[in-house]
Amino acid sequence: EQIEKGGYEHFMLKEIFEQPKSVHDTMRGRLLVDEGVIKMAGIWDHIEKFKNANRIIIIACGTSWHAGLIGEYLIEEYARIPVEVEYASEFRYRNPIITDKDVVIAISQSGETADTMAALKLAKEKGAFIYGICNVVDSSIARITDAGSYTHAGPEIGVASTKAFTAQLTILTLIAFKLGKHNGNLGNAEFMSLIAELDAIPKRIEEVLSATHELVQDIAKDFIGATNFLYLGRGYNYPAALEGALKLKEISYIHAEGYPAAEMKHGPIALIDENMPIVIIAPKKGHYDKIVSNVQEIKARKGKIVAVVNKGDQQVSEMADYVIEIPETSECFSPIIASVPLQLLAYYIAVYRGANVDQPRNLAKSVTVE
Ligand code: G6P
Repeated sequence: EQIEKGGYEHFMLKEIFEQPKSVHDTMRGRLLVDEGVIKMAGIWDHIEKFKNANRIIIIACGTSWHAGLIGEYLIEEYARIPVEVEYASEFRYRNPIITDKDVVIAISQSGETADTMAALKLAKEKGAFIYGICNVVDSSIARITDAGSYTHAGPEIGVASTKAFTAQLTILTLIAFKLGKHNGNLGNAEFMSLIAELDAIPKRIEEVLSATHELVQDIAKDFIGATNFLYLGRGYNYPAALEGALKLKEISYIHAEGYPAAEMKHGPIALIDENMPIVIIAPKKGHYDKIVSNVQEIKARKGKIVAVVNKGDQQVSEMADYVIEIPETSECFSPIIASVPLQLLAYYIAVYRGANVDQPRNLAKSVTVE
């Protein structure tokens, strides 16, 4: 096992550090920047299905569901196709309206999650076209779909998903850009500039890992005794906040909630005092001014602010107690980049609390029963 961990203390840390490679592997052979092409046979062979779809329904559980939420932002923004994101466990039992004009995308790292599988079977019976985004090759979900794309993140051993999540985001980004280019909603110049930026994302992840690894360890030490955490973000980074909170609660057993930053005033603000740590994702692109005013409200209530901001940020950084800098990207890529320090933060808080990060209590890597 020590050999498999490749010198890292835990699989989770190894998998966090593998992300420059796993994201790259997920794009390999698909993203051809010089030719200005995204090659995805699963999409291309069924392009009429996507083109004529009334809507896309994304079905998943857990971390994969968070990836699905970001997929909604991506596909609606770039391909202008309506998207709904559903928890598989809710979808399957609520007699959903599904027609043969719907495209269902299932996202599952393991490809074995019972609820996702059952939801897919239901959608299939009703005539929807089923597309899979799975990591495990030849898994049950991969086998019942009509088409799909594997994430190629490599085996993920840590129960808390890290590299599979960023690989899922990579596939969803490719799908959104490909559909948008094809249906004319994404112009050629923007497409070319976005794919060039996407191609460099593995490098950006590498930069973030080396720039934030030690800093995040220091920050984590100050939160070993925390009992609650709030994670806030807007736009694309709202689901990233949900995922940051999920990582923390899964492995450190500290209660954490993710929230859209503006919703704070409808509840969570009542909890903010000097004992409440708040992680706020505030990159320059994407509602930055709005986030600044959210941070002011937190500051006025003495919340402890951990801010994830772009290099050179001033307004949020001046108010924050801790600042984690990430490189500036187009907004759609920021959840991939911002997730990396949040994974490290959850990891180190859990390690310092003596938790079993690779196999947290009561959780399973894949949930094959209801
Ligand atoms: C479990 C795992 C999570 C995962 C979820 C969905 O809860 O612990 O990490 O996100 O199942 O799994 P899937 O394999 O369908 O992505």
